[in-house]
Amino acid sequence: MSERVRRAPCAVRRRNARRHVPRTAHRAPRTVALAILALASVSCTTLDRAVGKVPWFTTMRDQAAVRPFEGPGRNGAPYFLPPAGSVPTTGREDSLDLTTPAGVKIIDAKRNPVAATDSSIARGRAIYDEYCVVCHGPQGQGDGTVAGKMGYVPNLTMDLTKSRSDGYLYAILRHGRGIMPRYGDKIRDPRDRWNVVNYVRRLQGR
Ligand code: HEC
Repeated sequence: MSERVRRAPCAVRRRNARRHVPRTAHRAPRTVALAILALASVSCTTLDRAVGKVPWFTTMRDQAAVRPFEGPGRNGAPYFLPPAGSVPTTGREDSLDLTTPAGVKIIDAKRNPVAATDSSIARGRAIYDEYCVVCHGPQGQGDGTVAGKMGYVPNLTMDLTKSRSDGYLYAILRHGRGIMPRYGDKIRDPRDRWNVVNYVRRLQGR
């Protein structure tokens, strides 16, 4: 257990610094106050850390509790790993940029990795009917139940949308555009997004 006890670097500095405080300091309140002030200002930025310089308050800091991500556990891992499905802090999906020609060029070059099989279409339809149908309507005609309240919802079977690349449809689904909200945070699996793209293509008769 003892190796688990961690002291913050500041706590070590505090002990060193205290040696320089005159032993008579405790008898002179002004000197004590000045010493605390001086200690508080040494390399510590937050008030919290400054308060930690005062011996009375350090008891909760130096303890045997395991801190978040402290290790090593098995194979050098932290004792407690994040639960499955946690979002990694080390990386995320790159954003796609629909707002600049350069961004759209990258988006248009994206290849649809999911073949438009029956199961892909069925899955895409299920997701479309859950998220998209309220605006774009069951056949993609832009006549969903809330379309009237939106002012304008495009017909996904119009020539313009037909002529868009698969990557473009994918990017709009992920990020939204104009008053269309983003759905990438709800349809999280990239394959499912492509399934929806395949289904929109089916609605377009392609
Ligand atoms: C809340 C209503 C709403 C929902 C839900 C919605 N959309 Fe949209 N969608 C819009 C609006 C409004 C636009 C036009 C945006 C603009 O003017 O830039 C649009 C535009 C689009 C376009 C671009 C058409 C084009 O060629 O310019 C595509 C593709 C599209 N939506 C697909 C989807 C898909 C797929 C879903 C489901 C994941 C979805 N939308 C859900 C409202 C919605």
